[in-house]
Amino acid sequence: MKTITKVITGFLAVILPLAADTAAGKAVYEKSCKSCHGPDGAGNPAVAKMMKVEMKHLGSKEVQAKSDDDLKAAVTKGVGKMKPVASVSGDQAAAVVAFLRTLKQ
Ligand code: HEC
Repeated sequence: MKTITKVITGFLAVILPLAADTAAGKAVYEKSCKSCHGPDGAGNPAVAKMMKVEMKHLGSKEVQAKSDDDLKAAVTKGVGKMKPVASVSGDQAAAVVAFLRTLKQ
């Protein structure tokens, strides 16, 4: 019984922080990214048209092929026509990157 408790506790210790990160990242995404990138990362056609740019799906192979650091830099430093998102940095940027990984198609 003790062993089982240990195993379960160990398992939760690994899983819970990951889940927390993704949940926090989803909150950041909904507040700071969704208006332009859409609920599932497909991109808001009106924004793409207004900014005269083709927005890739954030879950697409091309975007997912980028490293966590690249994705974080897209948020904090901007990428192409996307301006840096000033309200998101540090832990929040890391959390939103964890959430972007869940959009993978
Ligand atoms: C004001 C609208 C806007 C907001 C807000 C915004 N983005 Fe973007 N984002 C864009 C546009 C437009 C592009 C395409 C830029 C280009 O290709 O020139 C882009 C590109 C990206 C890319 C690169 C995709 C590629 O083509 O490689 C990532 C990653 C990204 N955004 C993540 C985010 C995240 C995460 C947030 C929230 C923290 C966010 N964006 C908020 C408009 C926005």
